[in-house]
Amino acid sequence: MLHYLSRGSVPAKPHTVFRDARGKLLYEECFTRRGFDTEFSILYHEGPPQVDEEIGPSEGDPRLRVAATLAPPQPLRRRLVLGENAPQGVTPILASEDVVVSLERHPPMESDIGFSNGDGDDLHFVYSGKAVLETPFGDLPVGEGDYVLVPRGVPHRFRVLEALEGIVFELRGGFHLPVQFRNPVGQLKMDAPFTHRDFRAPGFTGPRPGPSEILVKKGDRFVKRRPRSSVFDVVGWDGTVWPFAFPILAYQPKTGLIHLPPTIHATFAAPGLLFCSFVPRVTDTHPDAIPCPYPHTSVDCDEVIYYVRGNFTSRKGVGPRAISLHPMGVPHGPHPGSYEASIGTRSTDELAVMMDTFRPLSLTTQALALEHTPYHESWK
Ligand SMILES: [Fe+2]
Repeated sequence: MLHYLSRGSVPAKPHTVFRDARGKLLYEECFTRRGFDTEFSILYHEGPPQVDEEIGPSEGDPRLRVAATLAPPQPLRRRLVLGENAPQGVTPILASEDVVVSLERHPPMESDIGFSNGDGDDLHFVYSGKAVLETPFGDLPVGEGDYVLVPRGVPHRFRVLEALEGIVFELRGGFHLPVQFRNPVGQLKMDAPFTHRDFRAPGFTGPRPGPSEILVKKGDRFVKRRPRSSVFDVVGWDGTVWPFAFPILAYQPKTGLIHLPPTIHATFAAPGLLFCSFVPRVTDTHPDAIPCPYPHTSVDCDEVIYYVRGNFTSRKGVGPRAISLHPMGVPHGPHPGSYEASIGTRSTDELAVMMDTFRPLSLTTQALALEHTPYHESWK
């Protein structure tokens, strides 16, 4: 997904005999995407990874993941969901065939249950807190302002050191970097908004105990596994599929003579989805530039913004952890006064994550409970 890495011990050739120091045979796990056709990693386990003591249906676990419950069809409205009022655990708020968006809040905890999402890659954004993401690839410390990608099917758990809060996007078609950021051999180009060095990989730990149970989500249903050996019993791995963290403030924004379209903030992509990072930056340099976004009718995009901090140029009255949804079908643009007030400004301190979707999103029943309903009328 990014670049090739190798950690711990791996044999010279895949699919050959590989033993530990005591002569015990180790077990390969080929972790592949899109069949056997695209990116993969190979992990070497002390025990066979496919053997369970028990495996059976489960209801899910609100601390880890529950299925989204869609609200009845809604009239076309601009929506604002207040993340500050979200309950503990994982709360789905928006869903389509391409993505499920959930708020997450976790107290400090060391859980004995892991999670594996068979429905998509999980792209987390950490609003606040500190945790260690434990995976078969190693341990990855994460914190405020980090995007954290957990590839589909990776068993993992967060050891939460300081209360963790943020948002998670389940990318059902699979995460990728926008293709225009790469050169023909896959390296990030020099004009990409980040470099390979900005992405943090897990620190390799070697074999260690893992969670005794793994909750697996597939098709929005759940099973619980009790694996015979630790899912973290890995002596080495190599490949291009691995969890990573990317700090949003490492994003390198671009500024133009006049206002550039939101695609200039492109960060990550998935089929039907584009993620953008709005970071503090110098704004347009033309003496008559209007730095605030122009009103626009994007006829085939729903636009979601997760507000992190700072004074967002185009909106008034939205605070940190609020999520706005501007649906396709009606024009949208700055709040009254914002457009005019931006003239002559030369910088912005806004920090936000935006997601454009090409298939319409539905709200969940949980989102309706957190909605700030006057938002729709706030352009009058
Ligand atoms: Fe927009």
